[in-house]
Amino acid sequence: MTPSTTRRTSAPRILDRCRELVRPALVESVRRLHPWHAETAAFSLGWSGVGGDPVPGSQGKGVRQALAVLGAEAAGGSGADAVPGAVAVELIHTFSLIHDDIMDGDETRRRRPALWKAYGTGPAVLAGDALFALAVSTLAESPGPGGPAAVRQLAGTLGELVHGQAQDLLFESRPWTGPDAVLPQEYRAMATHKTGSLLGCAAAVGAVLAGAPPSTTEALDRAGRHLGVAFQAVDDLLGIWGDPQVTGKPVHSDLRRLKKTYPVLAALAADHPAARSLQALLTSADPLDGPAARRAAELIDAAGGRRATAAEAQEHLTAAHDCLDRVELAEEARGDLLTLIPYLVDRTG
Ligand code: IPE
Ligand code: MG
Ligand code: MG
Repeated sequence: MTPSTTRRTSAPRILDRCRELVRPALVESVRRLHPWHAETAAFSLGWSGVGGDPVPGSQGKGVRQALAVLGAEAAGGSGADAVPGAVAVELIHTFSLIHDDIMDGDETRRRRPALWKAYGTGPAVLAGDALFALAVSTLAESPGPGGPAAVRQLAGTLGELVHGQAQDLLFESRPWTGPDAVLPQEYRAMATHKTGSLLGCAAAVGAVLAGAPPSTTEALDRAGRHLGVAFQAVDDLLGIWGDPQVTGKPVHSDLRRLKKTYPVLAALAADHPAARSLQALLTSADPLDGPAARRAAELIDAAGGRRATAAEAQEHLTAAHDCLDRVELAEEARGDLLTLIPYLVDRTG
């Protein structure tokens, strides 16, 4: 059979396989936390409800742990090599969402109250800190010669992630138009930092732990970063046109908070009457919720912001593929990565 006719494993099966491989170590790691933090971690990971209620919530897709496992396999190692890195990136992702919902004032996540709504802001800040610390110590204790390099990789990522969050928050008070308006390249830098850095680390960390050469780990990192920008562009689309029942998150929250998301920036840059109406709506003193947000969504679409964002996501998807094409990788894992990456971008939730 030629590679093009090889039947590929479906993306959900790839995610399931990786989740099963990582889960025991993730459970073991969370067990080390203070019982209060173990409870909030279990809630945030979708393993249980408020107060340790055994009814589980909806879990994340486990994208980052899967990238770590596939990265190790792609570099010629085994999925097991990646496990401490996979646990670390999954914990960091969870921490970052807990704190992000506080920063963004978002009350729901994965169809349940955000942690700060369920437990209070102080406990949620602390719960995030606990996961941050746990991620670093889990990786630092990982056996094998790649451990120190993996910790360095994660440390760099953490700095970038908070840098990206700072850019995202500071953009909220930048004007929509004029010399201080946010440029598309500033958006890309912000998205690369806040979302791409962790996906890049996820894709690379397993390979680092497996002792892969820098040419391989850097290619995986670059692929993950492009995936991050594509992922964020789609996240922006879902924040305006997604179904909250499917995304599990509030709709129009980005518009209300004047987030400089790609669909709005692209729409405002268009030479179209809808762009001018949108500008008037965005710069009026009225809050952008309810009917005004729905009207903004229509105008963004009419001015081409929705199409342009989908094209932006596609471009970064192609760039991610190119990064993987240019480096020698184990064929089966490369195939799994090439199945997973578009699945993550072509999503509704
Ligand atoms: C979150 O970005 C990025 C990090 C947590 C680092 P967003 O704020 O755009 O993501 P959602 O829409 O709340 O998931
Ligand atoms: Mg958010
Ligand atoms: Mg945010």
